[in-house]
Amino acid sequence: MSEFPLLSIRGLGVDFTTSRGRAHVLRGVDLDIARGRIVGLVGESGSGKSTLALAILGLLPPNAGSVQGSIRFDDVDLLNSSAESLRSLRGHRIAMIFQDPMTALNPVFTVGTHLRDVLNAKGSGEDAMEHNKRALEMLAKVGIPDPEQRLKAYPHELSGGMRQRVMIAMALLTTPDLLIADEPTTALDVTIEAQIVSLIREMRTHVRGSILFISHSLGLVSELCDDVAVMYAGAVVEQAPSVELFANPRHPYTRALIDCEIGLDDDDGQKLRSIPGEVLDPLAVAPGCTFAARCSLAEPRCHDQAPQFRSVAPKHGVACFRA
Ligand SMILES: Nc1ncnc2c1ncn2[C@@H]1O[C@H](COP(=O)(O)OP(=O)(O)O)[C@@H](O)[C@H]1O
Ligand SMILES: [Mg+2]
Repeated sequence: MSEFPLLSIRGLGVDFTTSRGRAHVLRGVDLDIARGRIVGLVGESGSGKSTLALAILGLLPPNAGSVQGSIRFDDVDLLNSSAESLRSLRGHRIAMIFQDPMTALNPVFTVGTHLRDVLNAKGSGEDAMEHNKRALEMLAKVGIPDPEQRLKAYPHELSGGMRQRVMIAMALLTTPDLLIADEPTTALDVTIEAQIVSLIREMRTHVRGSILFISHSLGLVSELCDDVAVMYAGAVVEQAPSVELFANPRHPYTRALIDCEIGLDDDDGQKLRSIPGEVLDPLAVAPGCTFAARCSLAEPRCHDQAPQFRSVAPKHGVACFRA
């Protein structure tokens, strides 16, 4: 196993042109994904998690302006790759599971067509019979009952949970080195969520690569992930192995998030805890730490100097002067 990470992001900046002006949605993201690990990416809604995923895939919307920084995937410089080589990476080495599978599944094609298309794109040289057999096996593997029938079904004929399983089956057929799952359980009810989470956990045996698991729930991430990256207002403010992050959170925002979730678990009628203050407006230009305005530990320099992401322990990085 190679020492350098599978994916390495440095200083990634993305702006969007909006009717209100320039929105600074990613403000210098640093993130490493080691080989064979499940990395959780957590942060409040609007912190830029999905934008980060789209930037990795080379699928940013047209109103994204120039992209700053670098994204290295293995030995490939993703930000300087042609549209064609990005497309080929997406079919072979990087796969994505979206929050709402309906947006990713084409309503006019059957489940079978979706799965066979993945195999065709891989160009394995196998024939249609072989593809059908592999598609059926994969549907069974992701827990879809009566796979023969489901192969002929159209996406709208399946429940949300079943559609998400089809998406996962498609992703697994790619046998990716990197699987990105963007809030794959958010649209599902709790029982189905638990089933999908255990399926993703089990997927480790099928995916030899790494998984980037995006979620707004620290609880879910703590159950599933080897490493955790905490995102706030367009930047990763802390990254560490899960055990280390939960035992020894160093960024005030991470601590606040953990406190909030503990508050949620309390069954004593306590009011839901939330972090005081508001998330930074993406249009705002912040010379200092993006969390300073909400941080109880902020000192004068936090408001006018941006803390660099730095190592505080082995594999534990944090962007905070006070950590
Ligand atoms: N195409 C776009 N144009 C303008 N703003 C966008 C666009 N896509 C996302 N945003 C804004 O970027 C911020 C981050 O969004 P997103 O990456 O979806 O966050 P998350 O996935 O963490 O909820 C939000 O403020 C969102 O409104
Ligand atoms: Mg999102």
